Amino acid sequence: MLLTLLTACNLSGPRETELAVIPLPADVTVEQGGFDLPKVWSVSLPVGEEAERVFRYLNQRLPQGMLTLAGEVTATLTLLPCDSLPDEAYRLEVSKQGIRITSNPSGAGWFYGVQTLLQLLPAGTTSGTLPLVQISDAPRFPYRGAMMDVARNFLPKEEVLKFIDAMATYKLNKLHLHLTDDQGWRIEIKRYPRLIEVGSNRLRTQLGHSDYYYPRRYDDKAQSGYYTQEELREMVAYAADRFITVIPEVEMPGHASAALAAYPQLSCGLGKEYVVRDYFDVFDEVYCPKEETFHFLEGVLDEVMDIFPSHYIHIGGDECPKKAWKKCAHCQALMQCEGLADEEALQSWFVHRMECYVVSHGRDIIGWDEILEGGLAPHATVMSWRGEAGGIEAARQHHNVIMTPGHSCYFDFYQQEPVDAPMAIKGYLPIDSVYAYNPLPSQLTPEEQRYIIGVQANIWGEYIQTPAYFEYMAFPRLLAISEVQWTAPERKDFTDFARRLDAHFPRLEASGIAACRDFYQPRMEGVWNAKQQQFEVHLSALCPDVEIRYALGDSLLTDSSPLYRSPIALTEEAPIYAALFRKGKQLGDLRCRRFAVNKATGRPYRCTPAPGWEHLHPGTGLTDGWRATPRDMRHWVSFYQDTVRIELDLQQTQELHRITLATLWRPWNTIWPARQVSVALSTAEAGSNEPAGGNESANFTEVAILQPQYDFTLTEGTRFPITISFPPQQARFVRLTLLGGGNVPQGWFDEGKLPELAIDEIELF
Ligand code: ACM
Ligand code: ZN
Repeated sequence: MLLTLLTACNLSGPRETELAVIPLPADVTVEQGGFDLPKVWSVSLPVGEEAERVFRYLNQRLPQGMLTLAGEVTATLTLLPCDSLPDEAYRLEVSKQGIRITSNPSGAGWFYGVQTLLQLLPAGTTSGTLPLVQISDAPRFPYRGAMMDVARNFLPKEEVLKFIDAMATYKLNKLHLHLTDDQGWRIEIKRYPRLIEVGSNRLRTQLGHSDYYYPRRYDDKAQSGYYTQEELREMVAYAADRFITVIPEVEMPGHASAALAAYPQLSCGLGKEYVVRDYFDVFDEVYCPKEETFHFLEGVLDEVMDIFPSHYIHIGGDECPKKAWKKCAHCQALMQCEGLADEEALQSWFVHRMECYVVSHGRDIIGWDEILEGGLAPHATVMSWRGEAGGIEAARQHHNVIMTPGHSCYFDFYQQEPVDAPMAIKGYLPIDSVYAYNPLPSQLTPEEQRYIIGVQANIWGEYIQTPAYFEYMAFPRLLAISEVQWTAPERKDFTDFARRLDAHFPRLEASGIAACRDFYQPRMEGVWNAKQQQFEVHLSALCPDVEIRYALGDSLLTDSSPLYRSPIALTEEAPIYAALFRKGKQLGDLRCRRFAVNKATGRPYRCTPAPGWEHLHPGTGLTDGWRATPRDMRHWVSFYQDTVRIELDLQQTQELHRITLATLWRPWNTIWPARQVSVALSTAEAGSNEPAGGNESANFTEVAILQPQYDFTLTEGTRFPITISFPPQQARFVRLTLLGGGNVPQGWFDEGKLPELAIDEIELF
């Protein structure tokens, strides 16, 4: 007990934070003094391949000639075996006599001890003084993964190796390679050469976001890329030297367009043309569950299992539309013969059959959570991506689970506010949100939670065209997830993490990693302060030890601009600039925002019918001072009905002469702009306290009606602004009546359907 208390005291002290180790170790004691590192380190190793592997790695990481093998007595660094330590656990002791790392002989502990040791060295040097520490450490989860999608956009082998190095630094141990998809087949299969000849090439790629252009636009640039088996074996060995397992994924039965382009006989036929896809979507062309297909897939898996010693083989299983199977005579006959009730059961049958093959080779399958539908294969491990529901269900069925829910683990989501970021798929998943994730759902009993074997970040590649962009999306979020994966939840603290993260940016830079630097920019939020009846801008920073300085309107931001101390009141719209400073030096880029501040800002309103969705600031999104942009769906307020009435209460009678709002057009999402907007005003008696929309007796008088004209030749998802002016008059209540876009016109996606209506930011002047 005394020992625990002493440790706890040390844990909370500033010294541990100064160590800046990520992920945070389980138990750290720092003592006074230091160990002066010699120019040449003598290393003492126990006998065995694993210790030598760790030595070889360290030898590569340190300058040439720095390491020598030595007798135990004189050693700078000693690796010690201890059978009783669990796999991956280690002890690292730095004393006046030298460095000792203890692990069980499987060796991962030595490797992780070395990683911690390397992080104790000042960034970019191998000399100086190490703090005297005793670290006792072990991971929270045995599965600590990251997924690279090299199928959508191929990434060179060198980028995979670079990523493996970074994973090793942060103690991740599973690299999931998404090797096949509709847009490309990236693994050489010698028995089926057309997979590369045909499947690894596409003639062009969509421009912009899948949801943006109608019709789609293309870059007209041919792209190709695949890894030879030799290259893949090199990756596997490189990863193994870093105690990382490479888990291959071969998608089935869906996401198979590239394979079917090469071997169309594996499809249900149906007269379709099978091509390597040049845009991103979920496609109806899937493998047909016939003997020829299974023979093919087994042949592919034979070679896959030969290249990848991983116990787990990922067989995909997500997003498999059943349209082709419903129409296919073979599929329907098979369902009857096997007594399968529906196509979900057929997918389950498909996965069971493939699992049998994999299990017969001494391996196990992982599948995306759709493999639960129609019944789980007996040994399957589930990757829960559509939230946690699939993972929870699988754990209850006593199947192993890897949590990778979109809301916390999808690194293809925006990592900065979308207005500040290069294009991403959707969402907003900044580093603090990743960090906050706890993969053990409270709905599960402790017994069931034991089936959650780990967590994985998924870096989907639709919009990742280059290694630099891959790194921008992966980092520094990978560091946050490493702590979700490794560190006990009671030890996690974002403020402390941020302090350590700050020290890791120079390390990432030294490794040539182009991390996102949003951490070095202030956050800016506009908030209506109901008490003060004013709109305020709140500035904050994730980054520690900084000053926030800001400038309003035309003034320039410099190191002597006003220091942010408390929320800044805005009475009208003006650009606001802010940046972070440390010791007089600006840390990151300037950030600029314009908030819509006007007579409607912060005012309550009532919508009839209620919005279909309103992601941010529910109930206040239309007057929250933030104008929605086409790429950021969170700020729009959307309705599924054709007629929408919105009544605002300005809470005092004021003179009005103009209203503006915007209406969104995203044809691929069946969102069309309003075809008519009318404005009515009501002057209630002074002192009326009727809530907005509750004032049925208010006498509204229509003051304007507009049928806007839109330019649909833009062919891009667009925010259409609408301005309606009217003769100045006094009013307290404003009623907007909007008619939706009307049925989708002929020739457009979802033609004839009633579209959604999405609007934002009602502004009154
Ligand atoms: C997935 O994101 N379709 C697994
Ligand atoms: Zn079929």
